[in-house]
Amino acid sequence: MIDIHCHILPGIDDGPQTLATSLAMAKMAERDGIRTLIATPHTDGIRVNRVRVEAAVHDLNLELQRLNMTLSVCPGYEIPYHLAEELSAAHTLANNGRHVLIEFPPMHLPKGALNTFFTLIAAGLVPVLAHPERNLGVLINPDVLKEMVDNGVLVQITATSITGELGPDVQRCAHHLLKQGWVHFLATDSHSPTFREPVLGRAVTLAARLIGQENAMALVEQNPRQILAAAESLSASTS
Ligand SMILES: [Fe+2]
Repeated sequence: MIDIHCHILPGIDDGPQTLATSLAMAKMAERDGIRTLIATPHTDGIRVNRVRVEAAVHDLNLELQRLNMTLSVCPGYEIPYHLAEELSAAHTLANNGRHVLIEFPPMHLPKGALNTFFTLIAAGLVPVLAHPERNLGVLINPDVLKEMVDNGVLVQITATSITGELGPDVQRCAHHLLKQGWVHFLATDSHSPTFREPVLGRAVTLAARLIGQENAMALVEQNPRQILAAAESLSASTS
């Protein structure tokens, strides 16, 4: 499996503060069957920048290799909505690909969001909306996502939203989005071994009951693989 949203880099954002905690997360992810994860620290473009993130990913991969682990980590970012137009082009997922992970503010759905996404799409980017099921505006009216999805916005929901650990309202919303076919990725958004733990397996099992095994697996394998493939083909065409 591939986890496209995980705060695993040590000392960068509100994720783990030590390498030991990062490695504990990596071991949990690997035990769960995750083989690749995209590290997505919250970025402001200044303090959490590409140089720092790429160096941290490099160092963590060296540690994983030293421990003979099969897990590998790619660089990525979680961009706050208000900086989306400014930061997206230079802060994509998985080694400078086309997909960008964008987070709405938790308490409302920003006006004009679709126009912002249109701007990104026109620039050749693919917006991936991080965990909308945890946004109050979407919780009240999940169907607002339909127009975004119809226009090319991809949707990532959180594993613990599906399992109910983030409460019954969030769980109900996550299940609704799944059943509508508006979800493209299932990710952990893990911040530590205990704060949204880095595992996908239980959520995939529950999702399979709602949308079938094949569709559930696509959220953690085929669809995430397209992010990695887009990044690889872009870097091959520019090298
Ligand atoms: Fe996150």
